[in-house]
Amino acid sequence: MNTQHQITLAKRPEGLPGQEHFSFEKTDVPSPQKGEVLIQSIYISVDPYMRGRMEDTKSYVEPFQVGRVIDGGVVGKVVESESDKFSKGDYVIGHLGWKEYSTARESIIRKVDKNLAPLSAYLGVLGMPGLTAYFGMTDIGQPEDGETVVISGAAGAVGMIAGQIAKVHGAKVIGIAGSDDKVSLLKEDAGFDEAINYKTTSDIHTALREACPNGVDVYFDNVGGEISDAVYPLLNDFARIPQCGAISSYNKGGDDVGPRIQTYMIKARVRLQGFIVSDYADRFDEGAKQLGMWLQEGKLTYKETINEGFDKIPDAFLGLFSGENTGKQLIKVAEE
Ligand SMILES: NC(=O)c1ccc[n+]([C@@H]2O[C@H](COP(=O)([O-])OP(=O)(O)OC[C@H]3O[C@@H](n4cnc5c(N)ncnc54)[C@H](OP(=O)(O)O)[C@@H]3O)[C@@H](O)[C@H]2O)c1
Repeated sequence: MNTQHQITLAKRPEGLPGQEHFSFEKTDVPSPQKGEVLIQSIYISVDPYMRGRMEDTKSYVEPFQVGRVIDGGVVGKVVESESDKFSKGDYVIGHLGWKEYSTARESIIRKVDKNLAPLSAYLGVLGMPGLTAYFGMTDIGQPEDGETVVISGAAGAVGMIAGQIAKVHGAKVIGIAGSDDKVSLLKEDAGFDEAINYKTTSDIHTALREACPNGVDVYFDNVGGEISDAVYPLLNDFARIPQCGAISSYNKGGDDVGPRIQTYMIKARVRLQGFIVSDYADRFDEGAKQLGMWLQEGKLTYKETINEGFDKIPDAFLGLFSGENTGKQLIKVAEE
């Protein structure tokens, strides 16, 4: 019997997690039962929402359990099949474990075609983050020609796509991100009109006011906190806020406290809507098709940060909270 590595939750963090919250273990590679396949993981996704799953709190997704394998998005290759639907050599995507090999029932995986797009793209621009950007921006943000759209977390997996979707709709797009390289990328590669480095600007309020002389019509918010506090006073009448994420508070513990926003919301009749990408599950095909078409037409570009090696998974996850990644953060754990 061959052995493999897997990563479990060692203990629950308070505040910023570290290596000590993850445990590497060696286990036997399982054998698939009837209706199952054995999958070798190739790309493993780490995502900010996993921080929430490290807490033992009720949410839209089950918490990770201490001592149990952490799970998330994985693209891999079928290496053994006991299923009529999948053959050895098929590439598949699914919600699987942080393991080198997983068995999966055929009902929880689907095939991906590496001739249509690179395998990694199915976890990024054509996967969960791309769909989040698509539905958040088109369904809730609804940017119109000539409007001003601000994106926080703009150089990440979701933000970079969300901004480009707003450009497709004819909006002026301003991104907020945490390094000069990210600012250059947004302006030069992703076609944003302006970008602000929130870590080096001396006054984010002034920087935003100067970048948005006509106010803000759509604020696609990935981060919350002080960055969002600086956007609220600039919101135009009937502005829309797709509330996608609030990463600035994920490691704070308890409720984050800031300026009260109700007056801004009332005065400008703002519509703020939190959403979870799975709310749109019955429209995923539509979203993936449209994103694929924009990619083909050259209207969309995407970035990935790919760390190599199974042992790099916790580091890559932790790096999300210090901005180590540009675009989608993945870990490549085996050759295609
Ligand atoms: N609602 C949904 O269904 C849904 C789905 C997917 C993702 N999300 C949320 O969307 C957001 C972006 O997700 P993603 O996958 O695209 O991640 P990501 O942007 O690729 O990675 C996280 C980025 O957040 C920024 N960041 C980290 N700590 C920050 C802080 N304290 N203040 C400001 N920025 C900070 C960093 O960039 P900088 O260098 O710019 O700081 C980092 O690179 C997250 O909040 C995530 O939870 C929501």
